[in-house]
Amino acid sequence: MNVTVSTPDTVECAEKGLKVVLPTGQSYFNYYWLRDNCPSSFNTTTRERSFDIFHLEHAPRAKAARIEGDRLIIDWADEDHVTRMPISWLEAHAEGKRRHDPADLPRRPWYGDHYPDVARFTQAELLSDKAKVKVWLEAMIVEGISVVTDMPDTDEALTQLVNVMGQVRPSFFGAYFDVRTHINPTNTAYTAAALELHTDVPAEEHAPGIQFLHMRANTVQGGRNLFGDGMAAANDFREMDPEGFRLLSTIDIPFYCEHDTYDMRAYQRVIELDQHGEVSGLTISQHLLDLIDLPQSLLDDYYPAFCRFGKLLQDGRYVMRFTLQAGECIVFDNHRVVHGRSAYSATSGDRYLRGCYADRAEMRSSYRALVCEGRFKA
Ligand SMILES: [Fe+2]
Repeated sequence: MNVTVSTPDTVECAEKGLKVVLPTGQSYFNYYWLRDNCPSSFNTTTRERSFDIFHLEHAPRAKAARIEGDRLIIDWADEDHVTRMPISWLEAHAEGKRRHDPADLPRRPWYGDHYPDVARFTQAELLSDKAKVKVWLEAMIVEGISVVTDMPDTDEALTQLVNVMGQVRPSFFGAYFDVRTHINPTNTAYTAAALELHTDVPAEEHAPGIQFLHMRANTVQGGRNLFGDGMAAANDFREMDPEGFRLLSTIDIPFYCEHDTYDMRAYQRVIELDQHGEVSGLTISQHLLDLIDLPQSLLDDYYPAFCRFGKLLQDGRYVMRFTLQAGECIVFDNHRVVHGRSAYSATSGDRYLRGCYADRAEMRSSYRALVCEGRFKA
C-alpha cells in the first residue's frame, strides 16, 4: 500500500477537477469522476453503485482537498459530503486505461498437428474440481479448444458440463441441436454429406460464442472431424496478404439462414479484431453466405481476397483431422475455431452428436471470478 505524506501543495483544486501529486507524479482527476466513484457510492453487499449522480443539484466541485495517510480527502462544495478515496484507486485510474482484465490472455495459435496436445479433462473432474475448471477455462481463452472425456450418455451430461462455465445459450433454432441424418434436412449438417470448414450461426446478429458437441454414438464409416484455428490462419494471412486482410477485417458481408418459418440475416466481418487490433476470430460459412451485396467493382478486389483466405484456411497446415469418439465432447470457440467433417456412410452405423452453445463473455466472467480479487472482494 502506498502511503503519501501530505504537504500543502500535494493537492490543488482546479476549476473542473483536482491536481494530485501521486507517488507516480502529478495526475488530474475530474470532479464528476471523483464524486461518482466515492467509496460511499457503492453498496458493498450488492457490489453495485447506489449513488445516482443524476440527482445532484449542482455540478460537483471540491471546497477543499488534502491527502491524509493513504487517502485523498475531499470536502465537497454545495453538498454535505466528504469523500475518502484510496490513493491506490487514484493510481490505478490516473492514466484512464481500461481496467486490468485477467481474462484478457494472449491467444496461442495452433496448427494441424495440435490434436495430441489439445487440453483434455474428464467431465467428472470439471464438475468437482475448481482448480481443473480454471485450467479448462484458461485453455479455452488461450487456445479456444478442449476435449472433455468420460461424458455420460445422457442429455443432462451436456447441460451439467455447460453449467460449469455458464448457461446454455439458445440460438434461433432452440437450446440444443441433434446432428444425425434427417429425412427432410433443413441444414447440411443433418445430411451425411461433407461439411466444409465453417463457424456456426453467422446469420444471428451475435453468433454464439462457445460451441459444445457431445458425441453420443459414432460407429459410421467416414465422418472424420475437422477443426482449424482460424486465428492462426488469419494471422498468417495478415503477414502474406496485408491488403486482403484489410478487406476481410473491415468490410461486412451478409449471411442468411432461411426456411419455411424463419429468415435470419446478419452482416459480419470475416476476420474479427479485438480491442488491441489482434485477430480474435472469424465468421465464415460457405453454405450460409448470402449474395454479397457490395458494389461489383469492390468485389473485383474483395472476392479474390475472400477466396485466397478461404483456400489458406483449408490448407492442411491448419486443419486437425480426427474422429471424435462416443463419450467425448469437444468444446470450442465458435468465433475462432472453424469446424467441419468429411462425408460419412449413413447406413454403416450410428452417428449422433448433441450440441449446444454458451456465451463467450460469460465464460470469461466465470474465469475472472475464479482467479480475480475483483474490486469488492476482501
Ligand atoms: Fe457447425
